[in-house]
Amino acid sequence: MDKIVIEGGQPLRGSVRISGAKNAVLPILAATLLTRGRNIIDGIPKVRDVATMIQLLKDLGAKVESNRNEKIVLDTSNANNTEAPYDLVSTMRASCLVLGPLLAKLGRARVSLPGGCAIGARPIDLHIKGLEAMGAKVWLEKGYVHGTVDGGLRGTQFYFDTVSVTGTANLMMAASLAVGETILENAAKEPEVVFLADILNQAGAKIEGQGTDMITIQGVSSLQPIECHIFPDRIEAGTYMIAAAITEGEVLIENCIPQHLEPIILKLQEAQVDVEVEDSSILVRGGRPLQAINARTHPYPGFPTDIQAQFMALMTLSRGQSIIMETVFENRFMHVAELKRMGADITLDGNTATINGVQGLSGAPLMATDLRASASLVLAALGAKGQSIISRVYHIDRGYVSMEQKLSDLGARIKRIK
Ligand code: EPZ
Repeated sequence: MDKIVIEGGQPLRGSVRISGAKNAVLPILAATLLTRGRNIIDGIPKVRDVATMIQLLKDLGAKVESNRNEKIVLDTSNANNTEAPYDLVSTMRASCLVLGPLLAKLGRARVSLPGGCAIGARPIDLHIKGLEAMGAKVWLEKGYVHGTVDGGLRGTQFYFDTVSVTGTANLMMAASLAVGETILENAAKEPEVVFLADILNQAGAKIEGQGTDMITIQGVSSLQPIECHIFPDRIEAGTYMIAAAITEGEVLIENCIPQHLEPIILKLQEAQVDVEVEDSSILVRGGRPLQAINARTHPYPGFPTDIQAQFMALMTLSRGQSIIMETVFENRFMHVAELKRMGADITLDGNTATINGVQGLSGAPLMATDLRASASLVLAALGAKGQSIISRVYHIDRGYVSMEQKLSDLGARIKRIK
């Protein structure tokens, strides 16, 4: 298993280009199953979760006509298989995104139940309840979710009792080919959900209200193949913004969408980090004493849970006490024990972390546990004195394009060892 070795204490300088958004491209790839024809998607991030989703689509009968650089041409004319195999789905819960499209297009689906993961149980009960409300029969058997529907899905009114990003995406895709009108209430407002709705509309769907908590979908009989360019990843951008701050460097974040980053920009400015916003780039300059501030994760447009671990790494070096509350997932503090081994002063009480800033962190051997916790450890290692060795870095490869290359281009002393 690969490890990443970091010699900390080096201010990062230069510019970094943000890649396509992992959490935007995964539902778009699943949505190609709603169409029959050549789907062309550009701006795809080369991360493991995307490779997994493409492999899953191939297992379902889609043909990859070409897949080079950041562009894929995916022919779904003969995507008639309805079974998503365990060995693939178990490595990525976003595979559940094929449930809605398979039921909508082919009337049946057999998708392995996604395992939980380090950050929580992550059930898909709302996905299932919504599909049942559209007339599907869904049952669990031997670790698989089975779904069938006779005569096509029917529009429904469905209320999410918890905001769910992929739940909203799944039901929106299913509803786009259902008979009649579907109303999704307490829907997710994430930019990735809005993007999916806009791209489905370009393919002929009739979706309104995306970006609000009530989305209305008029079912249509078929969709045109999808053509789109994936927008940049706001979580990757936020991660590099924090990298600039924690190393007291100066980094230009290029190819990003500042309005997707508002909660992160505001929190960093509150912490006395200099952040200058341009149209599609952000300049981040650290160096002033970091102010301890509080944060509470919340569905978009609140402070993103996917940035919580990275932000906590920064707060370990701030002046004063900061309180961070994780309200979205029940176990998203796996990075805390590792940060404490570097000298951070953090105490946990349920879903609340109290961080007392310390003078400095010292490098240590570290263990990555999940995607964003791994990013947090990389950031802490960059800001620490001495050497850190991070193992299980395959977690990082799930969601970050060439992270050590991008960091080393910014002057970080970082290398990957086998
Ligand atoms: C998406 O996961 C993202 N993944 C996650 O990013 C992100 O952390 C999360 O949204 C929240 O923003 C993708 O988009 C591929 P949820 P998702 O359904 O959709 C509970 C990353 O690091 N829930 O919004 O799986 C759930 O347990 C990943 O890139 C139910 O109870 O998250 C959680 O507590 C990690 N029942 C809360 O809702 C359901 O049926 C929010 O989950 C569905 C969700």
